[in-house]
Amino acid sequence: MSTKACHPPELAVIVPTYQEVEMVEEVVRRVGSVLAGVDWELIFVDDDSPDGTAERVRTIARRDPRVRLVQRIGRRGLSSACIEGMMATAAPFLAVIDGDLQHDETLLPKMLEVIKREDLDIVVGSRYVAGGGVGDWSERRQSMSRLATRIGQHLIHADLKDPMSGFFLVRAGVIQSSVRRLSGVGFKILLDIFSAAERPLRFRELPFTFRARETGRSKLDNAVLWEYLLMLTQKLIGPVIPVRFIAFSAIGGLGVFVHMAVLWPMLTLLGTGAFLVSQTTATLVAMTSNFFLNNLLTYRDMRLQGRQLISGWLSFVAACSVGALANVGIANYLFQGGHSGWFISALAGILVGAVWNYAVTAVYTWKRPRAA
Ligand code: GDD
Ligand code: MN
Repeated sequence: MSTKACHPPELAVIVPTYQEVEMVEEVVRRVGSVLAGVDWELIFVDDDSPDGTAERVRTIARRDPRVRLVQRIGRRGLSSACIEGMMATAAPFLAVIDGDLQHDETLLPKMLEVIKREDLDIVVGSRYVAGGGVGDWSERRQSMSRLATRIGQHLIHADLKDPMSGFFLVRAGVIQSSVRRLSGVGFKILLDIFSAAERPLRFRELPFTFRARETGRSKLDNAVLWEYLLMLTQKLIGPVIPVRFIAFSAIGGLGVFVHMAVLWPMLTLLGTGAFLVSQTTATLVAMTSNFFLNNLLTYRDMRLQGRQLISGWLSFVAACSVGALANVGIANYLFQGGHSGWFISALAGILVGAVWNYAVTAVYTWKRPRAA
C-alpha cells in the first residue's frame, strides 16, 4: 500500500442527491478532473432516491474508493444530508456542491487555495458578487430568492451577499464545533452554519454563474419557503421548544376554524337537534385536515405516502381523541373543583391536549426512522 493511502484526503466534497441518477457519473468525472492536484474524496449523500442514484454511486465506488456513499433511509432534507456528509469524513476541508451540476465545480481549486492562503473559515460560491449570476431564472424565482436573501442577511449579521448559496468550502473544525447547534431543517445549510458558529466566521465570497439544469428537475418547490420560515422561527425561539410543536399547534388552531366551518352549515341545515352528529362530523373533518396539513408541512421531511397514509390517519385520530378526552377532563376537573376560572381551566386543558397530541403522534404517526 502506498503511504499516500494512509492519509485522510485533504478535501471531502459532499454532494447531496435526490433523484440525480443521470448526473452522478458526470459529477465524479468533472470533480475528479478539476481536482487533479488535490487529495480528495467525494461523498454522495442520497436519500434513497427511487431512481437508483445510490446504486449508481456504488457502482462507481467499486472501482474508485475515493467515491463514497451515505444512503439515508426514510429521511429527506438537503441541510441534514449535507451535515451528515460533512460528519462522515476525516478530511480537514469540506466542500458542499449540488449534484445537478448547477454549481460551477471549476471553482473548487480556487476555493481551497483562497481558504488556505487567507486563513479563512469558509469560502462561499456566490451568485451575487461582481462576476456571479443566476443564469436564466424566472422573474418569480429571482424575486423569491432576493427576499429570502435579505431576510437571511438580517439573521446572521454578516454581510454575506449570497446567504442562500448551497455551494461552499469550509474548515472541518468550524462544523465540528457547531454541529450540535445546527438546526438541519430545510435547505438553507449556509445560514445554519453562520448562525450556529461560536464566533463570527472569516469568509470570502467568490463569484460563479448558476448554471441551467440539464436533466431532472428542481426539488425545491414552494414548500421550501415554509421550511425556511420554520428554520427562522426555530432560530428565534431557541432550541427548547421544538419548532415542529409550534407548527403543530398553529395547524391545530386552524383546525378550530375548519371545525366551525363544518359545524355551522350543518346546524343551519339539519337544525340543532342534529348537534351530536354535526359535532362528530366537524371533529372528524378537522382532525383529517389537521392530519394532512401536518403531514404536508410539519413533517414534510418524513411525509407519509400511499398506504402509510391510512395507518397514519388512524393513529392520528386515535391519539387526538384521547387528547380531546384529556383536554376536557382536565379543564373540567380544574373548573368544577374551583381551582381556576373558566378561561384558565380551558387553556390548561387545551395545552395538555396539544402537548399530548404532539408527543404521541410524533412517535406513532410520524415514526422516527430506526437509528441504524
Ligand atoms: N440528500 C438529499 N435530500 N438531497 C437533496 C434533497 C433531499 O431531500 N433535495 C434536494 N437535494 C439535492 C438535489 O439532488 C441537488 O443535488 C441539490 O440537493 C439541490 O437541489 P435542487 O432541487 O437542484 O435545488 P435548486 O437548484 O432549486 O436550488 C439551488 O438553489 C438554492 C438557492 O436558491 C441549490 O443550489 C441550493 O443549494 C440553493 O440553496
Ligand atoms: Mn439544482
